[in-house]
Amino acid sequence: MTMTDAMPSPTRRTAAQPGGGYDVDQVRKDFPILARRVHDGRPLVYLDSAASSQKPTAVLDAERDYYELHNANVHRGIHVLAEEATALYESARDRVAAFIGAPGRDEVVFTKNSSEALNLVAYAMSNAATAGPEAERFRLGPGDEVVITEMEHHSNLVPWQMLCQRTGAALRWIGLTDDGRLDLADVEKVITERAKVVSFVHQSNILGTVNPVATLVDRARAVGALTVLDASQSVPHMPIDVTALGVDFLAFTGHKMCGPTGIGVLWGRGELLAVMPPFLGGGEMIEVVTMEASTYAVPPHRFEAGTPMIAQAVGLGAAVDYLTDLGMDAIAAHEHDITAYALDQLATVPGLRIIGPPDAVDRGGAVSFVLTGSDNRPLHPHDVGQLLDERGIAVRVGHHCARPVCLRYGVPATTRASFHLYSTRGEVDALVEGLGHVRRFFGT
Ligand code: ALA
Repeated sequence: MTMTDAMPSPTRRTAAQPGGGYDVDQVRKDFPILARRVHDGRPLVYLDSAASSQKPTAVLDAERDYYELHNANVHRGIHVLAEEATALYESARDRVAAFIGAPGRDEVVFTKNSSEALNLVAYAMSNAATAGPEAERFRLGPGDEVVITEMEHHSNLVPWQMLCQRTGAALRWIGLTDDGRLDLADVEKVITERAKVVSFVHQSNILGTVNPVATLVDRARAVGALTVLDASQSVPHMPIDVTALGVDFLAFTGHKMCGPTGIGVLWGRGELLAVMPPFLGGGEMIEVVTMEASTYAVPPHRFEAGTPMIAQAVGLGAAVDYLTDLGMDAIAAHEHDITAYALDQLATVPGLRIIGPPDAVDRGGAVSFVLTGSDNRPLHPHDVGQLLDERGIAVRVGHHCARPVCLRYGVPATTRASFHLYSTRGEVDALVEGLGHVRRFFGT
């Protein structure tokens, strides 16, 4: 019996339609916040889901039920609440494992977010001294290289810079083409036998680009490097199967996939997690402790020191159920339609330049752009964002935690509209209308 069998699933309802697809108007009713009015009664147009998605009632209920009925610490009590809390927490692990096609539930490590998941691997790679001889394969030093890409957000850039500073390894990266894709022309020169790890983003949070995972994995494997996929922006939006992707590690976060904040996931290949050095030390990650030294628990507990994010994991489990009920194929198809429509409509706005692929092929629903004023100078994205907000339209402005991408395209910042399973064509129309208002305000 798995933990999933042990505890009942939270109440489920679905707007999925027979034969695929779903009724987006029905779906929106699952998200109470989408009915909000802002700024003197304007309907909220939420186009900032790449920063954080909204949460359906099923997720809110699951967290509330947990606290109202089952709250206790996990893995350490023998009373009924402790056993229920443990079963709920471990049931969330089962659900996540099934959702990403993980061969084993013990390959799913709960973290605080994607950043912590990526830091976990990066710190483990300089922690070989704390583990046995098998951990030597994770040791980095001078002469070794870490390869990333120029489109990483800071969570998949800074931890690797820090790893290189700690170990003396060198950081290399794959550059970008003018239309927002990875420049794979010289990938064999960038990923060489010196590479120990290749870490890259699946779907860019700023450009929307979906990267060719197999190409990079094949090259990394050929040189014996480990692969890490930052799937923060892909797991919420498309079907994911870790076995089919062929990577060694995969990181994502709950709050972008309709789950709570404060919970993320590191998936790792079982045979690698089994020998990977720990990151954080503390309670529950140990096997035997003396004053002189400690041995460590088997995965996933080796990587979950201290009291974990129990309610948040339960909420994530409910989010996974919600997404599964709608169907990840249906969600991907819906978002593809919205993204293609948005790119078409934004192309009609005078002076608007898309930063990223201009069409919807191999592209997700994060659409960044700059607007040019009548003097041919870009309008500042903060002004654009503020004027849109006055009309109830929520977008993100700035460098989107991916500053090197802005540097690459010669812009200090962009305005970004990002979509999710509940976004509508009507909201894209509202954005385009809002940009007309911005242009009129600046007399362009
Ligand atoms: N990476 C998140 C975003 O793109 C925070 O907004």
